Amino acid sequence: MPADPQPLSPALVPTPIGPLAVSDAGTPGALRLSLVIPTYNERKNVGELVARLAALLDPQLGRDGYELIVVDDDSPDKTWEVALALTAQYPQLRVIRRVGERGLSTAVIRGWQAARGDVLAVIDADLQHPPEVVAELYQRIQGGADLAVASRNVEGGGVSNWSATRRALSRGAQLLGLLILPGVLGRVSDPMSGYFALRRRIIAGVPLSPLGYKILIEVIGRGRLGTVAEVGYVFRERHEGESKVTWRLYVEYLRHLLRLRLAKVPLGRLVRFALVGTTGLAVDMGLLYLFSDPSSLGWGLTRSKLLSAEAAIVNNFLWNDLWTFRDLAARQRGLRHRFRRLLKFNVICGIGLGMNVVLLNLMFNLLHMNRYLANLVAIGLVTLWNFWVNLKLSWRYTGAPETAAPVGSVEPG
Ligand code: GDD
Ligand code: MN
Repeated sequence: MPADPQPLSPALVPTPIGPLAVSDAGTPGALRLSLVIPTYNERKNVGELVARLAALLDPQLGRDGYELIVVDDDSPDKTWEVALALTAQYPQLRVIRRVGERGLSTAVIRGWQAARGDVLAVIDADLQHPPEVVAELYQRIQGGADLAVASRNVEGGGVSNWSATRRALSRGAQLLGLLILPGVLGRVSDPMSGYFALRRRIIAGVPLSPLGYKILIEVIGRGRLGTVAEVGYVFRERHEGESKVTWRLYVEYLRHLLRLRLAKVPLGRLVRFALVGTTGLAVDMGLLYLFSDPSSLGWGLTRSKLLSAEAAIVNNFLWNDLWTFRDLAARQRGLRHRFRRLLKFNVICGIGLGMNVVLLNLMFNLLHMNRYLANLVAIGLVTLWNFWVNLKLSWRYTGAPETAAPVGSVEPG
């Protein structure tokens, strides 16, 4: 009877959940593909899956050309024990037993951390993902794709007999994700897929902090993704064991979407933009006093307000161009580009001013809110509008994309 599996290396010992990162390079040598199999109570499935994967991949990649990594969260049915016993027959099989830690996505990343190949992949253990598709996913990566996803929503794809409720839930979750993270979930036709392969370097050194099941969304949301390939597959019925999906996973999914959404909001830039906005407020107030106050020039209120508002917009533009969006402005140097940004900024802030007046009146007249509180709320909302739209339009860079410097890692040699 083989002894209890020893944790592989200190780096793989279960640690508190936190940003997980995959090292930048695999182990040089013949081994190319590392396929991770997350398991929880899959003792009846793991044997057949490993046998079918070996029969498929041995002729294609050779025994040394790939590894299978089972990551088991200390399953009560001792799946890790069954998997460990299989290592005698399948030397390309490795087993990680996590104790005191649960979760499909983090298990997959743990497996990728231990992986030695430069092509990383994941497949469910319950044979609902047909093993044959792995070879095609690998081919697509070899063919140049950074990410190859097995999809139920492209040609040749589908699900076997799913109830209408399950279809509606899955589609509903996808729609919600497209609303919150269009740039992420819109990259693939099946963002909920748990079956895909990727080039290690697109996530090398990137801190990952997924929640629940949707590891693919985390990879697309944080990875340095170039081309994506998709392979149709039919998601089959489970024969042994049960799905671990509970309603809690839907809550985790929503939290995951919001966490990624927040991660994509450039908070530092937003704070700088808001600070610049306060200087604009001071300019606006100061000039409104200078122009319209009877003790000063005493001009008409509307004329004074339009002049002071315009001066505030120009002030904000200059500070934002020199500070908040300095790096973006630096990519389009010269007076012509700057003037074009100022025009866009002016139009967008002008629309913002209009929105401010409408919102103020709505809150004051319809919701009977205190006028100053209503004004504060309106300014807050319009600041978000001005920030986001100006980031997307005024400081949008249309030239040739720069090669993004990988976060805290060096490209594989
Ligand atoms: N290590 C570990 N820890 N593995 C887990 C855990 C966990 O907490 N929970 C589930 N797994 C393993 C299961 O043992 C199985 O191998 C795989 O993750 C998928 O779990 P299922 O519970 O069978 O998921 P599903 O079939 O409902 O949903 C799957 O397919 C969907 C469609 O592609 C998942 O892959 C979903 O992510 C995917 O959206
Ligand atoms: Mn399943």
